[in-house]
Amino acid sequence: MREFILRARRASTHAAFSLNDLLHAGNMNVVASAISNAIWVSGGIRKDVVFHAVLEGPPSGPKAVSFSSNEIKGLGYDERSIASYIQIAMQKSPFLELNEETKVRRGIMVAKKSFERLVWERSRNSQVLVLDTSGADIRGTELKKNALFVFGDNIGLPEKTEKFFRNIPHIRLSLGPAMLFASHCPVLVHNEMDRRGV
Ligand SMILES: C[S@@+](CC[C@H](N)C(=O)[O-])C[C@H]1O[C@@H](n2cnc3c(N)ncnc32)[C@H](O)[C@@H]1O
Repeated sequence: MREFILRARRASTHAAFSLNDLLHAGNMNVVASAISNAIWVSGGIRKDVVFHAVLEGPPSGPKAVSFSSNEIKGLGYDERSIASYIQIAMQKSPFLELNEETKVRRGIMVAKKSFERLVWERSRNSQVLVLDTSGADIRGTELKKNALFVFGDNIGLPEKTEKFFRNIPHIRLSLGPAMLFASHCPVLVHNEMDRRGV
């Protein structure tokens, strides 16, 4: 299983953000394009990929929206369509208690859950790799079949994340020398794992 957690620090948790202006919904375009790149390939959907976007923007963040590639069917993979599923997730989740989750539609869940809690939960059965330009080069790093890749949005991961990760076994992983868009990261991760047959 290849799993991704994107920390989207300003992404809107308002159910009525405009699908015509994703940029002003806390850079929801970044979230949507990262999800598309993680799950879809030309002509189909990847197997065994789960993508969690933790939306931390107002008014009710954090909310974790999770897409499971093995279950989704008939979804659009363009930014607008993906953002519309996230919008439905926000419509269905205003009264969730902390750590409670609910189904949005087949293959999509939403939870009222913090980034830290989600990483901690998902780290139990996976190798944890925190994407960081100053980390170890992916080309020289062993990647396990069950791998959890954690990355930031256009703002990046906050400094306090570093402290949190002191208690979670992990590897800091560089995908190359250039600072990439968040949406580029899943493509490079998949490419490396595809080549290795992991
Ligand atoms: C657009 S970048 C963040 C830019 C932000 N201004 C910063 O300085 O952190 C989004 C995220 O992608 C990941 N990332 C980008 N380029 C990377 C690279 N070359 N190697 C590893 N991770 C990378 C990091 O997790 C980063 O937080």
